[in-house]
Amino acid sequence: MAKAPLNFICQSCGASFSKWSGRCDGCGEWNTIIEEKPLSTGPGKKGIKARGKGMVLTDLATKEAPPPRTASGLEELDRVLGGGLVPASAVLVGGDPGIGKSTLLLQAAASFARSGLKVIYVSGEEASAQVRLRAQRLGLEGASVQLAAETSLRDILTTLDEERPDLAIVDSIQTMWSDTVDSAPGSVSQVRAAAHELTTFAKSRGSAVIMVGHVTKEGQIAGPRVVEHMVDTVLYFEGERGHQFRILRSVKNRFGPADEIGVFEMTGAGLSEVANPSALFLSERGKPAPGSVVFSGIEGTRPVLVELQALVAPSPHSQPRRSVVGWDGSRLAMILAVLESRCGIPFAGLDVYLNVAGGMKISEPAADLAVAAALLSAREDAALPPETVVFGEISLSGALRPVGQSENRLKEAQKLGFSTAILPTGGKAGSTGGMTLTRMGDLASFVGEVFGAG
Ligand code: TYD
Ligand code: MG
Repeated sequence: MAKAPLNFICQSCGASFSKWSGRCDGCGEWNTIIEEKPLSTGPGKKGIKARGKGMVLTDLATKEAPPPRTASGLEELDRVLGGGLVPASAVLVGGDPGIGKSTLLLQAAASFARSGLKVIYVSGEEASAQVRLRAQRLGLEGASVQLAAETSLRDILTTLDEERPDLAIVDSIQTMWSDTVDSAPGSVSQVRAAAHELTTFAKSRGSAVIMVGHVTKEGQIAGPRVVEHMVDTVLYFEGERGHQFRILRSVKNRFGPADEIGVFEMTGAGLSEVANPSALFLSERGKPAPGSVVFSGIEGTRPVLVELQALVAPSPHSQPRRSVVGWDGSRLAMILAVLESRCGIPFAGLDVYLNVAGGMKISEPAADLAVAAALLSAREDAALPPETVVFGEISLSGALRPVGQSENRLKEAQKLGFSTAILPTGGKAGSTGGMTLTRMGDLASFVGEVFGAG
């Protein structure tokens, strides 16, 4: 007798059974057994498996050239894309409403058109007249970009299929609606369907598609994850409301490095590129003041100097405040704990505020030492020596760990006129002619040497 097929699978441990039962004998879990259809044998005769096509196997040593890219001429954008736009790629540009996504993409559309691409810009948020008005304001009315105001996905795909542009920009994915999905535009299933259709279009027709996605309060694009994993490249356009700086950051890129940033400044005539972000981020820095420390960071492939500002004040509350802008709150808690338990410097009863100047967001652990320096400097009301940059990672033991790309960090600091650097011992020495390097092994000796005491 033929064995009964084992189609009932426990979703918890993966054990398979020939019949359903309430409790899995394998792991003891209840109600985890589900009938799964066996792998399809295709349309062949009963019992005879239909044969599929043989796959073409290749080895890893590829002879293919890297994908041809088109540079827009907007260098900050091209760098974030990994060197330009790849044909048939799908790109998602996310960001808060009003941050400047439409402005950026209209400028990008015009630049790509100038580079010879056929570009179609579909706006689901604004009427064509509004987009034209914006183009006028940006001085782009002469660019050969085709414009449409449309939200019906079917109409958009039909038009794109006929026109076959090199690049289609869809602003925004939340306004698109597909008549095959039974829910309101902006809902997760609509966003997912629209992103899927547009990505499929990009792959099958060889057009690049850039989609705009608004970010929800929690910092995720509606239809979270679903859109991000479908596309090739995810870029976030970020910045603080009150600041002019805007940072375009690649968080995922199948065709280039992730974590690369492009820096722009929002002006009355659109976004202008910032070629030297360090100079910009430090431009508002006054005289050396307590609580202010310059950190030499790396964003993607570029060193960027930013100012960290800390304020430490007696707290009127029983639960002192810990407030961070531009850095990780739990990392701050860790550094406070290390300062307290390894260096004997308590922060109990003190409110602590930490701010990364200029609206920049830092995620590198290399900023640990600069944060600690800012906190100590604020607490002791003593400024660091002038023209000093700081970087290094702090471990829970209080030891300082060397970080990557020290040489690039130092070079950038030197370029901007810094003469001294405080950094961990170890790591590559490298020559940094002219700069005084103060290397420290642990946080306690840093406290002792820089602030004279604990
Ligand atoms: P927008 O591109 O419409 O944002 P998003 O598409 O992300 O919602 O940008 C809106 C903001 O940008 C708006 O507050 C006005 C400002 N802005 C300028 O400061 N200068 C300009 O040249 C333009 C076009 C917009
Ligand atoms: Mg917009």
